[in-house]
Amino acid sequence: MSDNWWREAVIYQVYPRSFADGNGDGMGDLEGVRSRIPYLARLGVDAIWLSPFYASPQHDAGYDVSDYRAVDERFGTLEDFDAMMAAAHEAGIRIIVDLVPNHTSSEHEWFTAALAAEPGSPERARYHFRDVDPGRPEAPPNNWQSIFGGPAWTKTPDGRQWYLHLFDSSQPDLNWDNPEVHAEFESVLRFWLDRGVDGFRIDVAHGMVKADGLPDTGGDGSIEMIGTTHAPFFDQDGVHEIYRRWRPIIEQYEGDRIFVAEAWTDSPERRALYLRPDELHQAFNFDLVLAPFAAADFRKAIDAEIANNAGIGAPSTWVLSNHDVQRHVTRYGDGETGLGRARAATQLLLALPGVVYVYQGEELGLNEVLDLPDEVREDPTFHRTGGEQIGRDGCRVPLPWKTEGPSLGFGDKAPWLPQPQDWAGKSAQSQDGVQGSMLEFYRTAIALRKSHKATGLTWLEDPGENAFAFDNGALVCVTNFGQDPVSLDGYEGEVLLSSTDLQDGRLPGGATVWFEK
Ligand code: NOJ
Repeated sequence: MSDNWWREAVIYQVYPRSFADGNGDGMGDLEGVRSRIPYLARLGVDAIWLSPFYASPQHDAGYDVSDYRAVDERFGTLEDFDAMMAAAHEAGIRIIVDLVPNHTSSEHEWFTAALAAEPGSPERARYHFRDVDPGRPEAPPNNWQSIFGGPAWTKTPDGRQWYLHLFDSSQPDLNWDNPEVHAEFESVLRFWLDRGVDGFRIDVAHGMVKADGLPDTGGDGSIEMIGTTHAPFFDQDGVHEIYRRWRPIIEQYEGDRIFVAEAWTDSPERRALYLRPDELHQAFNFDLVLAPFAAADFRKAIDAEIANNAGIGAPSTWVLSNHDVQRHVTRYGDGETGLGRARAATQLLLALPGVVYVYQGEELGLNEVLDLPDEVREDPTFHRTGGEQIGRDGCRVPLPWKTEGPSLGFGDKAPWLPQPQDWAGKSAQSQDGVQGSMLEFYRTAIALRKSHKATGLTWLEDPGENAFAFDNGALVCVTNFGQDPVSLDGYEGEVLLSSTDLQDGRLPGGATVWFEK
C-alpha cells in the first residue's frame, strides 16, 4: 500500500564530501552521514537525497562516475553505505541516491574500452563519437558548447575522432539510442533498489536524448546549466521513453519508492511532462531558485507550479538552494537582510502544499563563500572558463558542526575547502537549543508543518503592495517581501510561528508569519 510520503515530504540534500568527515581525511564520507542521522532526525526530515558517492576520479565532484555499483574509497565502502542506510531507516528517514545517466566518467571501463577500440566499433557506439573532417580538422562536428565552458567536443588521443561531452571533457555523453546503455542503467537501478534505497534523483534528466543528426544550436552554442533555454540536447521528446521503461521497474519494489528529476525545461508545462503517471514522481521546480525576493515573482512561480502539477496529480516540489547555485542567504543580500529573508522564504515554502527540499547547511543559515582562493577551487566551471566564471565551490564548503577544532567539527583535519572564520558562530553546536537561532527555527517550522498539513492553497487579500497571504487549509501564511511593515489586521487566529518578531502587531519587511486556523 502506498502511503504517499513523497507527496508532502521534507527532503534534505546531503552533499557527501562536505557534510561530515568520519575518517579524518578532510573530505566528508558515508560514516560521517551515518554519525549525523540523529541530527537529521531531530531536524525532522523525512528523507535524505545523497549526491553521488560512487567510484569516481572526482573531476566534477562525483558527477563523473567510473563505477555505478561501487562506493568511492574516499567516501567508504558498500558496507558503510548499508550501515548508513540502516541507521537512517531505523530513524524513519528514507534514502534517495543520485543516478547520473547522461554521461559516465572518462575512466569508466566502457569509455576506456571505447578509446582502445576502432572508430565504428560497438565499444564506441555506447557514446557519441564522430569522425574528424580531414578538410576541417579543427572544426568540431557541431557548435555545441560545454555547459562548463569551452567546446562540447574533444578529440580522441589518436586525433581521428571527436567525442561529445556536454559537461567536462572527463564526462563523455552516453548514446541513449544504444540498447546496451538502456540495459546497463536498468541493471544499475535494480542494484540499488535491491540494496534497499527509497529512490533516485536523476541527474540531467532532460539531457540523455539528443536531437537526430545533432544539429547546431542557436547563437554561439553556449548554454547555461541553470537556465531554461531550449537546445537540441535538452528536453527532447524521446527522453520520456526512458522513464516509461524505468517506472515499471521501480513499481516492482515494495515501499513507495520514487524518482525525482533534475529537469531544466523552458516552461512549467514541459516540466510537467516528466510527471505523467507512467514516468517520474517529482521534478524539482527551480523557479524559486531563479526568482528575486519579490511577491509577484514568487506568486507567479507558485501558481504555475500548482496549476501544472494539479492537472497530472503530481506534487509540487520546492527548492531554494542546492549544490549548483549560490546559497539563498547570499542571493537575498547576505548579512541580517539575507538571513531574515531566508527565514521568511523557508517558512513560506514550508507552508506550501507539496515537497520541500533543504540543502545541507541552510538550516544553519550558511552564506555562499565568495572569497575562496583560486588554488583551492575544484569546480570544472572555474577551470574551463579560465576563472571567468567563479563556479560552485562557494556553496560546497564543509559544514561547521562545532565552535572549535581544525574544521569546526567537520572532521579531525583541515577540510577540503577552507571554512570562513565566522562560521564557528554558525555551527550546529552554537545554535543548538538557542531560541531564535536558524537551526531552532527550522526544527520548529518543520514540526509545525507536520502538525498542520497543507491540503491546498487559496490566495487571500494581499496585506500590502509587495506582500501576499494564503490559506493552505491548515494555517494562514503571510509573507512580506518589501521593506516596510504591513498590517496584519484581517488575519485571525493565534500566531503559530513568525520568522521575525512582529512590530506592534505588524509584519516587518522580509518576514513570514503563520496563523492557526
Ligand atoms: C547536475 C549536477 O547537479 C551538477 O552538479 C553536475 O555538475 C551536472 N549535473 C553534471 O552531472
